[in-house]
Amino acid sequence: MPSDLPLDATYWNARYTLGQTGWDTGAITPPLRDYFQQLTLPVTARILIPGAGRGYEAEYLHGAGYENVWVADIAPEALRDLHQRVPGFPAEHLLEQDFFALPTTPPYDLIVEQTFFCALEPRLRPAYARQCAALLRPGGTLMGLLFNTEFDKPGPPFGGSGAEYESYFAPYFDFVHFEPAYNSIKPRQGKELFICLKKKVIFP
Ligand SMILES: C[S@@+](CC[C@H](N)C(=O)[O-])C[C@H]1O[C@@H](n2cnc3c(N)ncnc32)[C@H](O)[C@@H]1O
Repeated sequence: MPSDLPLDATYWNARYTLGQTGWDTGAITPPLRDYFQQLTLPVTARILIPGAGRGYEAEYLHGAGYENVWVADIAPEALRDLHQRVPGFPAEHLLEQDFFALPTTPPYDLIVEQTFFCALEPRLRPAYARQCAALLRPGGTLMGLLFNTEFDKPGPPFGGSGAEYESYFAPYFDFVHFEPAYNSIKPRQGKELFICLKKKVIFP
């Protein structure tokens, strides 16, 4: 599809119905799986996966016993796929909503990022960092993967660098991990940052 279209629900839903989902790995990726295997949060923790697409991370966490996993995506076709694939996943936790309009209460303990940030127009990046902070409780975590590379075609995906991203997150988060991922899937090796950021207790 031409990339000069507005990146709205119509655009993203069409990508699913047309099968143009090159980002979709068909399964949870190792960096997220390994992090989840070490997760020490209680099973009642509120976990949000924005721009989750078909939601393999939600499927994994649900299967691991987490009861309060929420998925937000503007493409109904992606949510329908998760609903059909994982019928036990609570339907009321499938939010067909714009990430930037999600209610900030009650707060989340954890937000999971994978190929959502890079799908947004770059001008929205400061707002993404701000909204993640608004959605988390103080001390809550934003973790996941960000592309640390430029792409040779017009986005999405839109590339960037750690140095650029740092400036968006620094006002709101303490940085626990912000380094090249060592266990990316093959096509993404050397191109991803693994991030684990803790929301500051006090920020401007
Ligand atoms: C590149 S896909 C990534 C999907 C999924 N994270 C994955 O790795 O397979 C980007 C996703 O973000 C969703 N999306 C784009 N803008 C959004 C917004 N403002 N709010 C919520 N979801 C959005 C799209 O519908 C799409 O499912």
